[in-house]
Amino acid sequence: MATLVAVPLVLVLVLIAAGAIWFASNSVRATPPAAGTLSFSQPLRIPELAPSRVEDGVRIFELEPREGSTPFRPGTQTPTLGYNGSYLGPTLVARSGERVRVDVANGLPESTTVHWHGMHLPAAMDGGPHSPITPGETWHPEWTIDQPAASLWYHPHLHGRTREQVDAGLAGMFLVQDDEESALSLPREYGVDDVPLIVQDRSFGPDGAFAGGLGMQFDGVLGDTILVNGTVAPHLDVTTELIRLRLLNGSSARMYDFTFADGREFALIATDGGLLGEPVAATSVPLSPGERAEIVVALDPGERVALRSQAPDPALHAGSAAFDVLELRAAASLTPSAALPATLADLPEADDSDAAAQRSFVMSGHSINDRQMDLGRADFVATVDTDEVWTVRNENPLPHSFHVHDTQFRVLSVDGSAPPARLSGWKDTIALEQDREYRLLVSFEDYADAQTPYMYHCHLLWHEDQGMMGQFLVVEPGQEPDLKRPEGDSDDHLDH
Ligand code: C2O
Ligand code: CU
Ligand code: CU
Repeated sequence: MATLVAVPLVLVLVLIAAGAIWFASNSVRATPPAAGTLSFSQPLRIPELAPSRVEDGVRIFELEPREGSTPFRPGTQTPTLGYNGSYLGPTLVARSGERVRVDVANGLPESTTVHWHGMHLPAAMDGGPHSPITPGETWHPEWTIDQPAASLWYHPHLHGRTREQVDAGLAGMFLVQDDEESALSLPREYGVDDVPLIVQDRSFGPDGAFAGGLGMQFDGVLGDTILVNGTVAPHLDVTTELIRLRLLNGSSARMYDFTFADGREFALIATDGGLLGEPVAATSVPLSPGERAEIVVALDPGERVALRSQAPDPALHAGSAAFDVLELRAAASLTPSAALPATLADLPEADDSDAAAQRSFVMSGHSINDRQMDLGRADFVATVDTDEVWTVRNENPLPHSFHVHDTQFRVLSVDGSAPPARLSGWKDTIALEQDREYRLLVSFEDYADAQTPYMYHCHLLWHEDQGMMGQFLVVEPGQEPDLKRPEGDSDDHLDH
């Protein structure tokens, strides 16, 4: 009897090991050109600033997701999606304390949602899978910006279709400003010395269309061409001594470790949810899909230097090589920039002594705590205006990340030690190296809704689409949860 059980078990283990090797080798198949070989032939496109109007004290933006085609490479057209244009979307800018509304008119032939990644707002405005916008319909989310200055972003979150819609081009930046940040001597002239960089990887087929469908790779789709703001092989003309780059990893699966070709030091000034306490001197900054970092780098007149991604920590993503992202080209004479301030923000101490709950999240395969996304199930219920301590761990030798809606959290510890300086500020997404334990201080302030949930998930978009996501409600003390499934939802559109 024992051998009858043991033989199949050995076989299963061998098959699992073979599968892991196959997945790992497939996931590195698409590799961008080696560092040092890119031509930097095209000027970097800067997303336009979204126009807005103010009515009755509300700043109103308009976004229209629509179909288009984009000439990424000379002489070719790629079918794409964009907001108000053919690829990506305009940059929204609003101030903390402002009331905003975004009128989202769905011009696509399919449903979509718009999620405000990193924003603290009511669940019904969050744009998750419970808020689909059908073709021709307009959605009017409205909320008050109530968080520090930060580089946030927006993208679709339709259940099972997020990767497809984001990869087709639906993404944009949402910059929050506030008085504290405005008072600092930091570069902030949009498109001049303060430049958003939406970094994505794509592959192109011979007909110019994006190549690489679903499936086949454990990570999702890795591309062999890096796009920055939708520009292939970009360069950026720099006219100031210091330049602030707002980096967004807008890729669906690729991990980056941003650095400069000559290894120069730069200042990391902000992470997902806003400024760090003080500038952190760094020579590299890793970003997993969905994460942001603001860096300030100094240039000498006339020089050229490439922003590059070096191979990420093998515990995060083995086998990815170094490649170039963008060349900075400094003018022969540069406008002087003010020195960076020694302190940036007054971050509260991350204090877990009042935590109302402890939760643990194990990321494995395409599941969290061995469960897959169910739009009709609240995985847990939190109480508004309480703090919680979450322990998060990736059990796979393959990349996962962890993102939470509604809130910016703090990293309390990494494997029991204080987090590195780059993880000392506000975060909404973290990269998870295999078997490293992250303890997070998570707070749910202001907004309770017994019916509409927020999401937490792996931000590798194919994993998310495969169900590596859960939902939670935030309720008033003592309030009964009453989760509503989105109207017309069925699981049929899922690609399992
Ligand atoms: Cu950027 Cu739930 O997403
Ligand atoms: Cu989000
Ligand atoms: Cu994952």
